[in-house]
Amino acid sequence: MSGAVDPGPGPGPAAERWRSGLAGWAIPDDIAAAAPEPPWGFPPAIFAERAERALAERSDSPSQRRAVEAVPDGGTVLDVGVGGGAGSLPLVPPAARLVGVDEGADLLAAFAAAADRLGVAHQEVQGSWPAVAPEVAPADVVVCHHVLYNVADLVPFAAALTSHARNRVVVEISGDHPTSNLNPLWLAIHGIERPTSPTAEDAVAVLGEMGLAVAHDSFERVWQRLGASRADRVAMTRRRLCVGPDRDAEIDALLEPDDEAQTRRTVTIWWDGSA
Ligand SMILES: C[S@@+](CC[C@H](N)C(=O)[O-])C[C@H]1O[C@@H](n2cnc3c(N)ncnc32)[C@H](O)[C@@H]1O
Repeated sequence: MSGAVDPGPGPGPAAERWRSGLAGWAIPDDIAAAAPEPPWGFPPAIFAERAERALAERSDSPSQRRAVEAVPDGGTVLDVGVGGGAGSLPLVPPAARLVGVDEGADLLAAFAAAADRLGVAHQEVQGSWPAVAPEVAPADVVVCHHVLYNVADLVPFAAALTSHARNRVVVEISGDHPTSNLNPLWLAIHGIERPTSPTAEDAVAVLGEMGLAVAHDSFERVWQRLGASRADRVAMTRRRLCVGPDRDAEIDALLEPDDEAQTRRTVTIWWDGSA
């Protein structure tokens, strides 16, 4: 199997900018130390819900189109950072087999259950990409949705995506860091300015620096709210901001109204695989 990972050239200046830009999102030590709950992380139900919605909508997004046109009938899709499967479940058909990689066992279980309901063959691999890549066989198309802002070392991560795709890699990310919508709340609650980079364009620059011939396209995606009720949203935001329930009234006043659908600039990036 050609699962061996060639890290390729780098890291060059764009890769260093990506890494240092992401490091700028670290929560200041004093604020993190006083956090009543761990600030990062999501309840797994959010990703299962997201996958169900992606399947029901099967939106004609650039990510969907660019993946479908590269999957042969009966083909295989590898979904890295699969979550509940929102990036790959809507590719069935033409895909007839899905392989999900994720660090989280509960997320993989949600993905497996959704794939069973859809009646598609599936396999789950638990581990961190690219460390786990040598255990994973190449696929026709590799998709990776909403993961890159978690990845400081983008070069080996992307090289492993490339070496596992026979036809194409399709990455989807938000135009800006996924928590950048909370920047005004950080300023209001803690008085600190949060970063405004890196952006999707910075990721494209890293991939270009690796010698990959990448194409990209932007679109607006309705952004999933964190939490089913206003109280859930306030609680999740309070957790992200590292404060306790004593700040709920302020957070409630700062969060946009529930009936305003939020859209987010979203970017599809695709390039040829080398498997
Ligand atoms: C924001 S979620 C996106 C899930 C799904 N792709 C979607 O679009 O709904 C990011 C997922 O990537 C996983 N993840 C993050 N870094 C990873 C890595 N290095 N290797 C494997 N999974 C990773 C997380 O566990 C999480 O399930």
